Amino acid sequence: MVLKLTDGALFQSKALIGARVCESSSGSRVEVLDPATSQVLGTVPEMNSTDTQSAISEAEKALPAWRGLTAGARSDLLKKWYQLVTAASEDLAILITAECGKPIAESRGEVAYAASFLQWYAEEATRAYGDIIPPHQADKRLLVIKQSIGVAAAITPWNFPAAMILRKVAAAFASGCTMVVKPAPQTPFTALALGVLAGRAGIPAGVLNIVTGSIDSSIEIGTTICKSQTVRALSFTGSTGAGISLAEQAASTVKKISLELGGNASFIVFDDADIDEAVKGALAAKFRNSGQTCVCANRFFVQAEIHDKFVEKFTAAVKQLRVGPGSEADVAIGPLIDARAFEKVTTLVADAVRHGANVEAEGDVGLLGGHFFPPTVLTAVNSKMQLAHEEIFGPVAPIFKFDNESDVIRLANDTEFGLASYFYSKDISRCFRVAEAIECGMVGINTGMLSTATAPFGGVKSSGIGREGGRYGLDEYQELKYICLGGIT
Ligand code: SIN
Repeated sequence: MVLKLTDGALFQSKALIGARVCESSSGSRVEVLDPATSQVLGTVPEMNSTDTQSAISEAEKALPAWRGLTAGARSDLLKKWYQLVTAASEDLAILITAECGKPIAESRGEVAYAASFLQWYAEEATRAYGDIIPPHQADKRLLVIKQSIGVAAAITPWNFPAAMILRKVAAAFASGCTMVVKPAPQTPFTALALGVLAGRAGIPAGVLNIVTGSIDSSIEIGTTICKSQTVRALSFTGSTGAGISLAEQAASTVKKISLELGGNASFIVFDDADIDEAVKGALAAKFRNSGQTCVCANRFFVQAEIHDKFVEKFTAAVKQLRVGPGSEADVAIGPLIDARAFEKVTTLVADAVRHGANVEAEGDVGLLGGHFFPPTVLTAVNSKMQLAHEEIFGPVAPIFKFDNESDVIRLANDTEFGLASYFYSKDISRCFRVAEAIECGMVGINTGMLSTATAPFGGVKSSGIGREGGRYGLDEYQELKYICLGGIT
């Protein structure tokens, strides 16, 4: 282990299947790299279809006892897990920064965000109420109850190694499901540490199973999950392409799926906005995790009257952002996850510049090299440029100029994606008009941060289906059962 953790046992490098931490059936292992240095942090089992099948069987075996517990008993276990995650937050933050690269302050924030799902769903577990329906005949009584869907699976991304797992697992456990989790190949150690803490919290063996793999074996693991009749629900966060492929495969077993996919968030600044507040919101919405979140602002639209003022203030603020390894204090922008991500962002910026974009701010990180990309502001951007249509997933802020409200709504909606959108305005009528007109699942008005465990997270169009978080998050792991009781005299 190269990392200094207070609790060394949290650095677990074996997978978790049933009661055992284990190797893969093939014996092969895969390296996990630190994106800041490209050094090897450790290795984990490179699992395959056989291992995934074992994990599914263990989840199936554990299901009757787990869903047979009262909601209160499951709630108590989630609360205990929450306490242990919170107590281990510094170690978890170190693991997150090491394998995903995000600045340590953000990793600490992620642990708190991740833990909040355990806390929220510990409480929601006891509130999964059903309904009593007025009967259609006098001798009948109609009830609707909510039941656990059964074995569920989660396939999670590298950009939030803790939060995307706990957002899914907490809702699934609260609903009485057992789970097979496949963390991203780049970030398995955070997942495995959460598994250690789940065991200490008393979550029974087989309720949580963690299958690790490489980028190559991920496809095999995903296919095994999708084709399994035992797995009744799949929750995936990741790219739209991968989500479509999983949805196609899962259709063969008529599984319930929830997909949280790519975004192309608009960030609109109207001429009646508080510009300083809009600049603060823009920094938060763009540069969180170095621009590598699905809800990051991808396209900035600024009204012509205030365009130059906004650009001047935003550019000045962006130039203050310190780039460096996430483990160093005061770093605001860490490395991109890998060389492929760096290549993609480089290509998108080059394409924009070739089509006439101006580079307003570009920090000098030439000496850092590797996967570090400088925070960049581009103006004179237009819809011919690739970055107007693609998720950038990097610290690049392209700014479009617009004239009026109807134009900007058309421009904002001119995308196949519909996850998040943000806008700044002090006009309350406009706030409602625009929020209702934007085609997306989540809108931030006068804020650049909207994520919370208590509200539904998810998108429309190619950004996905289903919702995570809030009371709606339980629906993904429950079935409704209608009971018709006759013969009442
Ligand atoms: C994501 O990037 O998909 C998650 C971001 C969040 O939960 O705020």
